[in-house]
Amino acid sequence: MTPLKILITGGAGYIGSVLTPSLLALGHEVTVLDNFLFRQNSLLDCCHYPNFQITRGDCRDESLMKRLVAKSDLIMPLAALVGVPLCNRDAVATQTTNFEAVARLCRLASPVQRMIMPVTNSGYGVGEKGIHCTEDTPLRPISTYGITKVKAEELVLQRENSLSFRLATVFGMSPRMRIDLLVNDFVYRAVHDCAVVLFESQFKRNFIRIRDVVRAFIHAIDNFDTMKGQPYNAGLDDANLSKLELCAVIQRHLPQFVYLEAPIGEDPDKRDYIVSNARLAATGFEPEWSLDRGIVELIKGFTILRNSQYANV
Ligand SMILES: NC(=O)c1ccc[n+]([C@@H]2O[C@H](COP(=O)([O-])OP(=O)(O)OC[C@H]3O[C@@H](n4cnc5c(N)ncnc54)[C@H](O)[C@@H]3O)[C@@H](O)[C@H]2O)c1
Repeated sequence: MTPLKILITGGAGYIGSVLTPSLLALGHEVTVLDNFLFRQNSLLDCCHYPNFQITRGDCRDESLMKRLVAKSDLIMPLAALVGVPLCNRDAVATQTTNFEAVARLCRLASPVQRMIMPVTNSGYGVGEKGIHCTEDTPLRPISTYGITKVKAEELVLQRENSLSFRLATVFGMSPRMRIDLLVNDFVYRAVHDCAVVLFESQFKRNFIRIRDVVRAFIHAIDNFDTMKGQPYNAGLDDANLSKLELCAVIQRHLPQFVYLEAPIGEDPDKRDYIVSNARLAATGFEPEWSLDRGIVELIKGFTILRNSQYANV
């Protein structure tokens, strides 16, 4: 393997905090640019690597990005305001971070520099019953989050030497933990509250474990020339599940877990779809982590993590 100079924007985030140490361990030179929006300290364990560089800054800062891009063989734009609730709080920051900053990266990078970008598969929106969404299924994002990510992907795929991953909802532990992701959220509630109330419980989504996302990125580095130029769905084929089905899987691990249905909410992205991951599989990629293995991992993690700042127990 030839070590690459890799720039990861948002590398201190949920995915970046697992991706960065994995790339460093493989011998790549990794530079992370992050504004540490969540005051996270998730990359402390990377600082001992001589091949690790960190810049605290904003991905919207053109002169800074120009300098960082110039030194890179491969750029991974992860920096974003992620998820519908956060994006709805600040539409301007969402547009400038999720779309304009990526558009600028595309301008600053020379055509030979490679780019691998993660986007959400929530752009598929409401799928047709029983029909798998492929990469050729039209994207119809509804939320500002979905719209900005889809527009950014379009630009990335127009340039040479780029590919994107349309990620399923990610689950699993990360040093910068997110419990707002569906599987993580439900397992957290199952561990600490033993209960969850479901809305739109029959709506289907799909899922992938964070370590398989990292493996997919590494697979793309290793097979870049054959994979470039296309988007790839990345999810578990056997985890196209409704919320109700997901709860049943969690209950197998935590029998005391109770789940009820009630008309208490609506998914702002109107997600209800099943996804085919055949294109990525055809490149030789196979996920290693089942939902069950991920749930076991999360139960251990949430035995450690507990949000009890304002309680005595
Ligand atoms: N987690 C998922 O389920 C999922 C699914 C599909 C796609 N994605 C994509 O993967 C990427 C990473 O998502 P994540 O789950 O790790 O989210 P995250 O919120 O944990 O990570 C985002 C990172 O970007 C940084 N950031 C935000 N604004 C910035 C700015 N202006 N300048 C510099 N850094 C900034 C944050 O500090 C954070 O470290 C995003 O692009 C997201 O759209 C994630």
